[in-house]
Amino acid sequence: MGKTRLGINIDHVATVRNARGENYPSPLKAALLSQKYGADSITIHLREDRRHIIDQDLIEIRKKLKIPLNLEMAPTKQMLKIALKYKPAFVCIVPEKRKEITTEGGLNLKKNSNFLKKIINGLKSKRIRTSLFIEPNLKSVLHAKNLGAECIEIHTGKICNLINKRKKYSKEFKKILNSVNFANDLGIDVHAGHGITFESAKILSKIKGIKEFNIGHFLIGESIFVGIKYCIKKFKKIIK
Ligand code: PXP
Repeated sequence: MGKTRLGINIDHVATVRNARGENYPSPLKAALLSQKYGADSITIHLREDRRHIIDQDLIEIRKKLKIPLNLEMAPTKQMLKIALKYKPAFVCIVPEKRKEITTEGGLNLKKNSNFLKKIINGLKSKRIRTSLFIEPNLKSVLHAKNLGAECIEIHTGKICNLINKRKKYSKEFKKILNSVNFANDLGIDVHAGHGITFESAKILSKIKGIKEFNIGHFLIGESIFVGIKYCIKKFKKIIK
């Protein structure tokens, strides 16, 4: 098995920029620095309300980045059109609610089956690696397989929250472990993300079948104090 990849989510740089309506700090600069310091991919979430990443960020980053760009997007016709136009290397399909602060849970695969199948096939035909962001349970893994997904990203928000609050997390850990093993048995690549800190990365990286971690909020926040280079190197060391 190859080394575990680290994807860096830079939406939070755009959030800070947008808070003042200025053109800094630059998400492009964050993407290029992350690339320089060892990120394996860059994640951006182009939300329907464009509250952090905007279309111009996508265009610039897509043009200048050498490592793969992972576009997170809601399963909508408009987003599919954008993905097919700019052809990022990777797409991660996520649920989206206007009022949420961040992506609150995994996709409802049952409700969206037909459209998800259409999106997956459309992206596959352009050789865009597509993952579905799901909750850690066997039913969702099987559903993702039946939809033709080659990859899933497991929502780690719950376990990370438990770890942060010093609560028991073994039940949630087991759920993730079982989902990862089941997905690997079905031939699906497994990624993980949401709410990951240095501490939760250490715990989650004990699960061997996770090929990629996507990390943003904590990493960008911590970079204020210790720098993005230090944070990336530390995460890489933890997950390797
Ligand atoms: N993966 C997915 C699919 C996400 O939606 C997010 C949050 O945008 C992340 C990873 C990164 O989460 P965080 O910013 O909490 O590290």
